[in-house]
Amino acid sequence: MNEDKDSLTRARERGSHGRQQDDGVLVIRTIAMPADTNPAGDIFGGWLMSQMDLAAGNMAGRVSQGRGATVAVEAMQFLRPVKVGDEVTLYATLKKVGRTSMRIHVDAWARARFSNNAAKVTDADFIFVALDDEGAPREIPDT
Ligand SMILES: CC(C)(COP(=O)(O)OP(=O)(O)OC[C@H]1O[C@@H](n2cnc3c(N)ncnc32)[C@H](O)[C@@H]1OP(=O)(O)O)[C@@H](O)C(=O)NCCC(=O)NCCS
Repeated sequence: MNEDKDSLTRARERGSHGRQQDDGVLVIRTIAMPADTNPAGDIFGGWLMSQMDLAAGNMAGRVSQGRGATVAVEAMQFLRPVKVGDEVTLYATLKKVGRTSMRIHVDAWARARFSNNAAKVTDADFIFVALDDEGAPREIPDT
């Protein structure tokens, strides 16, 4: 353990594949498919939320080195629709590490299949709690 680094910096290194994560770490990149649409033919917001939850959960698992669960999602709004065939990319940033919880900000971007331009679709803070084998909150290890 490097004594010069604070616990958030050490936790960020665990959750970031060793990369800088000032603008978020790319955790998931996927393609929006026809099965993910709402009845109007656009991508269902719940699908995007589940991808964001998966991205935050992936980082939370690395940071806390074990299982966990989403306890809250804060401040989500959808800025633009996602269309079938769009490439959807989820970036996660570890904002805070508490005793048993982690606040992870997730940005979702979409790029039309044959375009070079990506645009932000939504973002939100996901709060994960590290859990023990009985499903009770567990302290997040510092290394
Ligand atoms: C996660 C769970 C075990 C937490 O139990 P709890 O009794 O609320 O635990 P605590 O009060 O000790 O809180 C644990 C941590 O979560 C934080 N927390 C709890 N609710 C929160 C909320 N709504 N917003 C932000 N943080 C919250 C607490 O501040 C604490 O953080 P800290 O230890 O870093 O200081 C329990 O709420 C649970 O099982 N929820 C269901 C989770 C789940 O199934 N998610 C998937 C849904 S499909």
